[in-house]
Amino acid sequence: MEILFLGHSAFLLKGTKNVLIDPFLTGNPSAAAGPGDLGDIDMVLVTHGHGDHLGDALDIAKEHDAVFVAMHEIANFASSKGVLRIEPMNIGGSITVDGVVITMTNATHSSDFEGGSAHPAGFVVAMDGHRVYHAGDTGVFCGMSLICELYHPEVAILPIGSRYTMDVGEAIKAVELLEPSIVIPMHYGTFPLIDSQDPKDLAKGVGTRADVRILAPGESTSL
Ligand code: NI
Ligand code: MN
Repeated sequence: MEILFLGHSAFLLKGTKNVLIDPFLTGNPSAAAGPGDLGDIDMVLVTHGHGDHLGDALDIAKEHDAVFVAMHEIANFASSKGVLRIEPMNIGGSITVDGVVITMTNATHSSDFEGGSAHPAGFVVAMDGHRVYHAGDTGVFCGMSLICELYHPEVAILPIGSRYTMDVGEAIKAVELLEPSIVIPMHYGTFPLIDSQDPKDLAKGVGTRADVRILAPGESTSL
Protein backbone atom coordinates (compact mmCIF):
# COMPACT_ATOMS: atom_id res chain seq x y z
CA MET A 1 0.00 0.00 0.00
CA GLU A 2 1.08 3.53 -0.69
CA ILE A 3 -0.04 6.41 1.53
CA LEU A 4 -0.17 9.76 -0.26
CA PHE A 5 -0.47 12.90 1.87
CA LEU A 6 -2.55 15.55 0.15
CA GLY A 7 -2.23 18.23 2.85
CA HIS A 8 -3.93 18.97 6.21
CA SER A 9 -5.83 15.72 7.03
CA ALA A 10 -6.33 14.49 3.46
CA PHE A 11 -4.78 11.16 2.55
CA LEU A 12 -5.11 8.76 -0.36
CA LEU A 13 -4.48 5.10 0.47
CA LYS A 14 -3.50 3.42 -2.79
CA GLY A 15 -3.74 -0.34 -2.91
CA THR A 16 -6.17 -2.86 -4.35
CA LYS A 17 -8.62 0.03 -3.99
CA ASN A 18 -8.02 3.76 -3.80
CA VAL A 19 -9.34 5.06 -0.50
CA LEU A 20 -9.55 8.83 -0.03
CA ILE A 21 -9.89 10.24 3.50
CA ASP A 22 -10.98 13.79 4.47
CA PRO A 23 -10.42 15.40 1.05
CA PHE A 24 -10.26 19.09 1.94
CA LEU A 25 -8.55 20.36 -1.22
CA THR A 26 -10.45 23.40 -2.49
CA GLY A 27 -9.53 26.31 -0.21
CA ASN A 28 -6.76 24.34 1.51
CA PRO A 29 -3.55 26.41 1.27
CA SER A 30 -1.45 23.24 1.66
CA ALA A 31 -3.37 21.08 -0.82
CA ALA A 32 -1.05 19.06 -3.06
CA ALA A 33 -3.73 18.34 -5.66
CA GLY A 34 -7.06 19.62 -6.84
CA PRO A 35 -10.18 17.50 -6.65
CA GLY A 36 -9.84 16.70 -10.35
CA ASP A 37 -6.22 15.45 -10.12
CA LEU A 38 -6.68 12.33 -8.04
CA GLY A 39 -7.07 9.52 -10.57
CA ASP A 40 -9.49 6.72 -9.77
CA ILE A 41 -11.19 6.94 -6.39
CA ASP A 42 -13.16 3.92 -5.13
CA MET A 43 -14.26 5.22 -1.76
CA VAL A 44 -14.31 8.47 0.17
CA LEU A 45 -14.18 8.39 3.97
CA VAL A 46 -15.07 11.45 6.06
CA THR A 47 -14.19 11.55 9.77
CA HIS A 48 -16.52 14.42 10.72
CA GLY A 49 -18.52 17.31 9.36
CA HIS A 50 -16.11 20.23 9.73
CA GLY A 51 -15.32 21.92 6.45
CA ASP A 52 -11.61 21.10 6.61
CA HIS A 53 -12.55 17.38 6.50
CA LEU A 54 -15.80 17.13 4.55
CA GLY A 55 -14.14 19.45 2.05
CA ASP A 56 -14.63 18.24 -1.53
CA ALA A 57 -15.90 14.82 -0.47
CA LEU A 58 -19.40 15.15 -1.89
CA ASP A 59 -18.25 16.38 -5.30
CA ILE A 60 -15.50 13.76 -5.54
CA ALA A 61 -17.85 10.92 -4.54
CA LYS A 62 -20.32 12.03 -7.22
CA GLU A 63 -17.65 12.53 -9.88
CA HIS A 64 -16.13 9.08 -9.34
CA ASP A 65 -19.31 7.25 -8.35
CA ALA A 66 -17.32 6.34 -5.24
CA VAL A 67 -18.71 4.83 -2.06
CA PHE A 68 -19.15 7.55 0.58
CA VAL A 69 -18.42 6.31 4.11
CA ALA A 70 -19.22 8.44 7.13
CA MET A 71 -21.20 8.74 10.33
CA HIS A 72 -24.90 7.97 9.77
CA GLU A 73 -26.03 11.64 9.76
CA ILE A 74 -23.27 12.79 7.40
CA ALA A 75 -23.85 9.88 5.02
CA ASN A 76 -27.55 10.69 4.87
CA PHE A 77 -26.68 14.34 4.24
CA ALA A 78 -24.46 13.21 1.37
CA SER A 79 -27.35 11.18 -0.01
CA SER A 80 -29.62 14.24 0.17
CA LYS A 81 -27.00 16.12 -1.87
CA GLY A 82 -27.00 13.52 -4.63
CA VAL A 83 -24.29 11.04 -3.61
CA LEU A 84 -25.61 7.72 -4.87
CA ARG A 85 -23.54 5.16 -3.00
CA ILE A 86 -23.44 5.72 0.76
CA GLU A 87 -22.31 3.50 3.62
CA PRO A 88 -23.56 5.03 6.88
CA MET A 89 -21.95 3.74 10.05
CA ASN A 90 -21.24 4.63 13.67
CA ILE A 91 -18.63 4.20 16.40
CA GLY A 92 -17.49 0.60 16.89
CA GLY A 93 -18.99 -0.65 13.67
CA SER A 94 -17.07 -2.31 10.85
CA ILE A 95 -18.07 -2.69 7.21
CA THR A 96 -16.46 -4.35 4.23
CA VAL A 97 -16.51 -2.43 0.97
CA ASP A 98 -14.95 -4.17 -2.04
CA GLY A 99 -12.68 -6.20 0.24
CA VAL A 100 -11.60 -3.18 2.32
CA VAL A 101 -12.57 -3.45 5.99
CA ILE A 102 -13.41 -0.10 7.55
CA THR A 103 -13.94 0.33 11.28
CA MET A 104 -15.24 3.57 12.76
CA THR A 105 -13.53 4.58 15.99
CA ASN A 106 -14.26 7.25 18.53
CA ALA A 107 -12.77 10.74 18.46
CA THR A 108 -12.96 13.39 21.16
CA HIS A 109 -13.89 16.51 19.22
CA SER A 110 -17.03 18.25 17.92
CA SER A 111 -18.68 18.10 14.53
CA ASP A 112 -21.26 20.15 12.72
CA PHE A 113 -22.03 20.68 9.08
CA GLU A 114 -24.65 22.24 6.84
CA GLY A 115 -27.01 19.33 7.46
CA GLY A 116 -26.81 19.27 11.26
CA SER A 117 -24.37 17.72 13.67
CA ALA A 118 -22.86 14.29 14.06
CA HIS A 119 -20.44 12.65 16.46
CA PRO A 120 -16.84 12.89 15.23
CA ALA A 121 -14.90 9.73 14.40
CA GLY A 122 -11.72 8.15 13.19
CA PHE A 123 -11.21 5.11 10.95
CA VAL A 124 -9.14 1.98 10.88
CA VAL A 125 -8.79 0.85 7.27
CA ALA A 126 -7.60 -2.71 6.60
CA MET A 127 -6.51 -3.32 3.03
CA ASP A 128 -4.00 -5.65 1.40
CA GLY A 129 -2.83 -6.95 4.79
CA HIS A 130 -2.13 -3.48 6.16
CA ARG A 131 -4.06 -1.60 8.86
CA VAL A 132 -4.05 2.17 8.92
CA TYR A 133 -5.64 4.28 11.66
CA HIS A 134 -6.65 7.82 10.66
CA ALA A 135 -7.58 9.51 13.94
CA GLY A 136 -9.58 12.39 12.47
CA ASP A 137 -9.59 15.43 14.74
CA THR A 138 -9.17 14.38 18.35
CA GLY A 139 -7.37 14.81 21.60
CA VAL A 140 -5.67 11.80 23.08
CA PHE A 141 -8.06 9.43 24.89
CA CYS A 142 -7.68 6.23 26.88
CA GLY A 143 -9.69 4.26 24.31
CA MET A 144 -6.72 4.42 21.99
CA SER A 145 -5.37 1.46 23.97
CA LEU A 146 -8.50 -0.47 22.93
CA ILE A 147 -7.95 0.52 19.31
CA CYS A 148 -4.48 -0.98 19.71
CA GLU A 149 -5.78 -4.14 21.35
CA LEU A 150 -8.67 -4.75 18.96
CA TYR A 151 -7.36 -3.53 15.59
CA HIS A 152 -3.53 -3.47 15.87
CA PRO A 153 -2.99 -0.53 13.53
CA GLU A 154 0.37 -0.72 11.84
CA VAL A 155 0.19 2.96 10.89
CA ALA A 156 -1.24 5.76 13.04
CA ILE A 157 -2.02 9.03 11.29
CA LEU A 158 -2.36 11.56 14.11
CA PRO A 159 -3.22 15.26 14.30
CA ILE A 160 -0.56 17.31 16.10
CA GLY A 161 -1.46 20.94 15.40
CA SER A 162 -2.90 21.73 18.86
CA ARG A 163 -5.72 24.25 19.48
CA TYR A 164 -8.38 22.03 17.84
CA THR A 165 -6.67 18.66 18.36
CA MET A 166 -3.77 16.99 20.10
CA ASP A 167 -0.43 18.71 20.25
CA VAL A 168 2.89 16.94 19.94
CA GLY A 169 2.96 16.02 23.64
CA GLU A 170 -0.45 14.37 23.49
CA ALA A 171 0.45 12.67 20.23
CA ILE A 172 3.50 11.10 21.89
CA LYS A 173 1.11 9.69 24.52
CA ALA A 174 -1.20 8.48 21.73
CA VAL A 175 1.72 6.58 20.20
CA GLU A 176 2.32 4.89 23.56
CA LEU A 177 -1.32 3.78 23.65
CA LEU A 178 -1.63 2.75 19.99
CA GLU A 179 1.77 1.02 19.59
CA PRO A 180 1.94 1.51 15.81
CA SER A 181 5.07 0.76 13.79
CA ILE A 182 4.70 3.94 11.74
CA VAL A 183 3.35 7.37 12.69
CA ILE A 184 2.39 10.08 10.22
CA PRO A 185 1.57 13.55 11.62
CA MET A 186 -1.24 15.65 10.13
CA HIS A 187 -3.41 18.72 10.84
CA TYR A 188 -0.57 21.16 11.55
CA GLY A 189 0.82 24.21 9.79
CA THR A 190 -2.06 24.53 7.35
CA PHE A 191 -3.24 27.80 8.88
CA PRO A 192 -1.64 30.26 11.34
CA LEU A 193 -4.01 29.00 14.07
CA ILE A 194 -2.40 25.55 14.01
CA ASP A 195 1.23 26.35 13.24
CA SER A 196 2.67 26.17 16.77
CA GLN A 197 3.90 22.57 16.58
CA ASP A 198 7.01 21.08 14.98
CA PRO A 199 6.67 17.50 13.70
CA LYS A 200 10.39 16.97 14.32
CA ASP A 201 9.59 17.21 18.04
CA LEU A 202 7.18 14.31 17.56
CA ALA A 203 9.96 12.25 16.00
CA LYS A 204 12.29 13.13 18.89
CA GLY A 205 9.67 12.33 21.52
CA VAL A 206 8.61 9.04 19.96
CA GLY A 207 12.24 7.99 19.57
CA THR A 208 12.66 4.31 18.75
CA ARG A 209 9.09 3.35 19.64
CA ALA A 210 7.89 3.98 16.09
CA ASP A 211 9.06 5.22 12.73
CA VAL A 212 7.76 8.80 12.42
CA ARG A 213 7.36 9.65 8.76
CA ILE A 214 6.91 13.38 8.20
CA LEU A 215 5.34 13.87 4.79
CA ALA A 216 5.15 17.14 2.91
CA PRO A 217 1.93 17.63 0.98
CA GLY A 218 2.27 15.63 -2.22
CA GLU A 219 4.70 13.12 -0.69
CA SER A 220 3.86 9.48 -0.23
CA THR A 221 5.26 6.59 1.74
CA SER A 222 5.09 2.85 1.09
CA LEU A 223 4.25 0.08 3.52
NI1 NI B 1 -12.70 19.32 13.22
MN1 MN C 1 -9.95 19.87 11.51
